Amino acid sequence: MEKIIDENKQGESLILEQKEGNTKKLFIESYGCQMNFSDSEIVASILADEGFNTTPHLEDADLVLVNTCSIRDKAEQTVRKRLEKYNAVKKINPSMKVGVLGCMAERLKNKFLEEEKIVDLVVGPDAYKDLPNLLTEVEEGRDAINVILSKEETYADISPVRLDSNGVTAFVSITRGCDNMCTFCVVPFTRGRERSRDPQSIINEVNDLWDKGYREITLLGQNVDSYLWYGGGLKKDFDKASALQKATATNFAQLLELCAKAQPKMRIRFSTSNPQDMTLDVIETMAKFPNICNYIHLPVQSGSNLILKAMNRQHTREAYFELIDNIRRIIPDCAISQDMIAGFPTETEADHQDTLSLMEYVKYDFGFMFAYSERPGTLAERKMEDDVPEDIKKRRLNDIIQLQQKHSLYRTRQHIGKVEEVLIEKSSKKSEAHWSGRNSQNTVVVFPKAHYNVGEFVNVKITDCTSATLIGQAVGYSDNN
Ligand code: SAH
Ligand code: F3S
Repeated sequence: MEKIIDENKQGESLILEQKEGNTKKLFIESYGCQMNFSDSEIVASILADEGFNTTPHLEDADLVLVNTCSIRDKAEQTVRKRLEKYNAVKKINPSMKVGVLGCMAERLKNKFLEEEKIVDLVVGPDAYKDLPNLLTEVEEGRDAINVILSKEETYADISPVRLDSNGVTAFVSITRGCDNMCTFCVVPFTRGRERSRDPQSIINEVNDLWDKGYREITLLGQNVDSYLWYGGGLKKDFDKASALQKATATNFAQLLELCAKAQPKMRIRFSTSNPQDMTLDVIETMAKFPNICNYIHLPVQSGSNLILKAMNRQHTREAYFELIDNIRRIIPDCAISQDMIAGFPTETEADHQDTLSLMEYVKYDFGFMFAYSERPGTLAERKMEDDVPEDIKKRRLNDIIQLQQKHSLYRTRQHIGKVEEVLIEKSSKKSEAHWSGRNSQNTVVVFPKAHYNVGEFVNVKITDCTSATLIGQAVGYSDNN
């Protein structure tokens, strides 16, 4: 692989990995969660062996792939809009082929080919290795589809081609699918049952990333704390594993430790943690290794016990507080972020107040907040009426966002006056004269460039802040370089 520099839509410099001798051009874009972005890198790797190099320019493409998200109705609408854009480009470039990947492909299956004339190819999240065969079909003039979900596929043997890369931070996927069946969520239907990836292949990828200059990785899964390797296969079949497999199994805390030890200077993050599966040994492992970042994304969705139950979240408000207390006791400066859903079916004003009071207790560093969107096929859609009026959903969402902004500012202010280690990722969006990076807590820090470079760890004295960004001055290299 050869590295070339190109520019993306925002005018940022990108490092593109290109395979020599490849002549066909792939334009691939991703919507939705980090896992989709990571999956697109696997797809780009599979297609690099089929003669495709990636291009950041849609107009140049022989093949356009869009990795899609079904989590909320709006996410699906965004993709439909993109297909209209592809349609316009196809008028100028009629030989261009268009494929849909990811959760919408899995959810809509054949319907996609019927509803969207522009689409030639539909491929679900577990079927990317079949892309070479499917492309042959498409080249021969037939529409092609594979949406079979797998019990084993983790793409462990594929070395991803890094896309949209700053050359410093990368995603490493560790589990696929989800067994939790939260009643609002479409993911278990689109991504199948939960399975974990061989820890050795994860460590190999981490080592390889370090050798290529990467300095921070994020271990990805829908529910990372539930990671369990016992030789392969579905998590739900662990009970049937042999005594030896059980005795030698690797859980998430052990995997974290393996990664932290394999590359003691590589920063390690992970996402997403589910409160019901996060154990004390994970928090203790975080505390033990300085290269595991002090940040936990810990979605709770609601502060009301009634709503948590209706959502099939397997914990109470009280159990969540206990977990928060344990995190704060073991890692006092740990940042915590949330996902919240406003207006789940049956949610009353009192339930909403419980969400706000839970937020007051935790004072999250930041969060991702959504109005409930009914998803076809989920238990909530089948069994519950979407009975909170849109204007009330919006108002409650707004209350949550306002409160989060207040808490975010409260949290960023705590950093003022401190000297914190920052990994430099890129130029600041607002100023070419400033670097942008993040501290251990995942908060963005900007500071004058001086003589420092991308990929270096620097100590930055924090002098000012907004609710989302810390502003400071570099005072020297950190010991981690
Ligand atoms: N465990 C996953 C969660 C994926 S969905 C992870 O890795 O992040 C991300 C977030 O989208 C959820 O935490 C939830 O807050 C939100 N979400 C999921 N389904 C939703 C729906 N039907 N309506 C509104 N928000 C939803
Ligand atoms: Fe969705 Fe709940 Fe899994 S939010 S991804 S079903 S943990």
